[in-house]
Amino acid sequence: MRVIRASAPGKIILFGEHFVVKGKPAIAVALSPRIHVLVREWDNDKLMVMSRDTGYRIVFEPDSLEVIESNGELLQLKKILEELKNKKTIKPAYIEITSEIPVAAGLGSSASLAVAFTAAYSKYIGLELSREEISRIAFEAEKIVHGKPSGIDNTIATFGGAILYEKGSFTRLRVGEIKDYFIIADTGVPRSTRKAVLQVLNLYEKYPEVLKHVYNAAEKIVREAEKALERADTVKIGELMNINHGLLSAIGVSGLELEQLVHIARRSGALGSKITGAGIGGSIIALASRDKVDRVYDALRRHAKRLIKASIDWEGVRIEEK
Ligand code: PMV
Repeated sequence: MRVIRASAPGKIILFGEHFVVKGKPAIAVALSPRIHVLVREWDNDKLMVMSRDTGYRIVFEPDSLEVIESNGELLQLKKILEELKNKKTIKPAYIEITSEIPVAAGLGSSASLAVAFTAAYSKYIGLELSREEISRIAFEAEKIVHGKPSGIDNTIATFGGAILYEKGSFTRLRVGEIKDYFIIADTGVPRSTRKAVLQVLNLYEKYPEVLKHVYNAAEKIVREAEKALERADTVKIGELMNINHGLLSAIGVSGLELEQLVHIARRSGALGSKITGAGIGGSIIALASRDKVDRVYDALRRHAKRLIKASIDWEGVRIEEK
């Protein structure tokens, strides 16, 4: 029986979140935790998708793409199937999702799913899609999940590595051989990207003459970080992360739990640490050298709701046929 597997990495925003909303550059990096999608032939005339981790299930009628069964989740996959149907017949299949990436944590899980699903299912029906095409189709699904996504998440999940995002366009960054680890530590405090973005925009309205300097400083951090990434200068990357965190505090998206994790990471030997993503709640990211990573991890363990140790993913989407 034919089995196709595909997987795609998650991501973090390393520099520039929030400032990117007003046209400044941001850098995102693909990380090793992945979402896996397995597509299998089965003796049924339906197309069923189920997620092992969340228990979500959706069943489609392949010809019409009518949703026969659903609990209101995974509906964005219909958009992907519609895109693929324009190119090839949709065949019945049993599809299973497993994830190493927590959902709604700012780690781009929905985009990783869209990329892995598009790659696995297109291969199953005999399509050879380019990476650009996989990313484009995944972006269509992201619009359904996020409304107005930037496209960072599907791009990074498809291509891996690091990208610079600026005013709607992406550049893949040259990154030296970084062997250090990233630790993502979740405060467990709920986060709302929308609420955080609005709060920051309101502050900007109130103090434009002050905040424009903060935004310009954020841009300079990204320019310095580009050079540091290329040289794999992780000491500098860590220092720039610390400065970037200070700017995020300045625009009001830090908080007690986030500060606690940021400082525990630094005190236990991290090269740098900062909020990642929208802030207010959510996660921090710490960069730790190989010899310090266990110490930083252990120090964060007592205070974080969830911890992930990750390295940079260089590969992006991966397809395997069994
Ligand atoms: O926490 P996330 O991954 O949703 O990141 C939000 C990043 C922001 O810059 C705050 C918003 C955006 O759309 O870029």
